[in-house]
Amino acid sequence: MQNFKLAEIVINWYKKNFRNLPWRPYDFKQKVNPYFVFLSEFMLQQTMVKTVIPYFLKFIDKYPKINILANAKLDEVLTMWSGLGYYRRATNLYLSSNIIHNELSNVIPNDYASLIKLPGIGDYTAAAIAAIAFDKETVVVDGNIERVISRLYKIESKGNFLKKEVKQILLANIPNKQNSLFVQGLMDIGATICMPKIVNCKICPLEKRCEVSFSNHAIDYPKKAVKKRKVIRFGDFYCLLNSKKEILFLKNEKNKLFNNMYILPSKGWQKKDDIIDFNLFYRKQKINCGIVKHSFSHFDLEANIIIYKFGNKNFELKSKQKFIKFNALNSSGIPTLYHKIISKILKYI
Ligand code: ADE
Repeated sequence: MQNFKLAEIVINWYKKNFRNLPWRPYDFKQKVNPYFVFLSEFMLQQTMVKTVIPYFLKFIDKYPKINILANAKLDEVLTMWSGLGYYRRATNLYLSSNIIHNELSNVIPNDYASLIKLPGIGDYTAAAIAAIAFDKETVVVDGNIERVISRLYKIESKGNFLKKEVKQILLANIPNKQNSLFVQGLMDIGATICMPKIVNCKICPLEKRCEVSFSNHAIDYPKKAVKKRKVIRFGDFYCLLNSKKEILFLKNEKNKLFNNMYILPSKGWQKKDDIIDFNLFYRKQKINCGIVKHSFSHFDLEANIIIYKFGNKNFELKSKQKFIKFNALNSSGIPTLYHKIISKILKYI
């Protein structure tokens, strides 16, 4: 393995070429806002930068400080998160902000060991916040960084073995200051130069040191681990429609997925069904709308959509139930799966 000043090269490049992202200071000499890093790292778990940016801006507009987020209602935070997916992140963000507000005087912890104790913060996020917000000497490996290092050293291993090798290389190269710029520099080289299918070796600061630069093999790295096929779950989803063109939603408190959110009644795909009294469906007009497919992190879902029309009869709402009008659906904290289902339903009514 070559021995050269990886961190120095990356940091110098970053100072001139960094991406202007809203959670970063305008100028690398300015102080980082730890709350911005904390919030953005929750959002960036499983979601791309360009998708996160408008949500991040919306959040800091409404919750400019951590105490304001902690004092908000969870329902409102979930509504704000709506469309970003993986909703457990929003609940965990809220729980973590409450711990920081109530127990830590609104001061975000600056070290890996304290960060990782907070809900929703795992190894990656703790290391990223400690490095980016507080310049701590932690090792951060996201998809971009893994790609850059695997190409730089032409690493043949895959999956977790690759991750381990990349971590070891980074550990040996952590600078004793400005680790924040090193980490973000590697991220930015991966995002703007050393991309998955396009490589711009001509403008890469690591070009001279890279074992695959200018070869046709660069895009073959990192070597891909064979992905396990996801299981498919099947379920029935019910649209109970009243004469005012409103759909019945239930507040979900049974299942972890979409916890505390308004969802459609369904059965068969989760441990506990969210079905309402079957007698209600008796002799109602039934329309079969077919299947909606949706992918979750651990399984794929095939949702069978059924509409029942209630005509003019009044429907007595129980607690945790509410009717929502179609045209109000966009602005009302409803997960993407249910938006897909509603789009399908709209073609049949
Ligand atoms: N992905 C995860 N964290 C990131 C960050 N801070 N900047 C850019 N991309 C990221």
